[in-house]
Amino acid sequence: IDRYAVIGHPISHSKSPLIHGLFAQATGQVLEYTAIDSPVDAFRDTVMAFRAAGGRGANVTLPFKLQAFELATDPSQGARLAGAVNALKFDGDRILAENFDGIGLVNDIIRNQGVSLTGKRVLLCGAGGATRGAILPLAGQGPALIAVANRTAAKAHALKADFAAHVDLQTGGYDDLAGLSFDVVLNATSTGLSQDTLPLPPGVFAPGALAYEMVYGKGLTPFLKQARTAGVARVADGVGMLIEQAAEAFQWWRGVRPDTRPVIERLTVPLV
Ligand code: ATR
Repeated sequence: IDRYAVIGHPISHSKSPLIHGLFAQATGQVLEYTAIDSPVDAFRDTVMAFRAAGGRGANVTLPFKLQAFELATDPSQGARLAGAVNALKFDGDRILAENFDGIGLVNDIIRNQGVSLTGKRVLLCGAGGATRGAILPLAGQGPALIAVANRTAAKAHALKADFAAHVDLQTGGYDDLAGLSFDVVLNATSTGLSQDTLPLPPGVFAPGALAYEMVYGKGLTPFLKQARTAGVARVADGVGMLIEQAAEAFQWWRGVRPDTRPVIERLTVPLV
């Protein structure tokens, strides 16, 4: 049987085995997909052991996305620009690597949230790996503007330089957002996992804006509460992004595109 896995630490809460199991069932693909908890200091050994035991591919989650990039022999352009990888495919000695998080995000926004990005003003909060992975797929939709705001403004400015050949980012600190508003505001900081609130001016949300939290399963995070308080009606967490990136990986591995809709309906919980 063809084996796949998600590798992370911790990993017990991962929904990927359920998602890929549902995809396999729906498409008639025969495969096994498990969760592997890797010791923090032994990611490489964990991957190599899985491959040696017949693993065909793997998803990679926190905290190993950067190490997975290092391990790859054939990273995609998106993975190279992100410097991070969330999916591996084993082909003999080669380790092909992709980062599907950004395309998963974009597909969720467009297909599931029903929000077009074309001509829109988009704000990414945060300048870490989540933002890096999102920039190119967002830029591909032809937004009017992509801005990146970060607590450490220098990190946002560094992104502007790194992506200069592909997209003209507007970058700065949260202070620089005064007087600006955006149609899509994305939280790509790790505050979705803490109780910290970003210092966003309330006017940052344009009328009818979508507020999107990339973390999933945390209910109304401080960012989403902040958006609600500012009058934003359309809020979403990252469960659709998770399922859409999984669909990309499944197609990459198996050559079959699963229907994400029933899985989204099954896994989405109301944000209250
Ligand atoms: P990831 O790969 O998940 O994006 P990361 O690279 O560690 O993780 O980046 C975390 C992001 O969350 C950063 O943009 C970080 O801001 P700094 O670069 O200034 O550290 C942001 N972040 C984390 N905690 C934050 C907080 N309390 N307030 C604002 N931003 C925060």
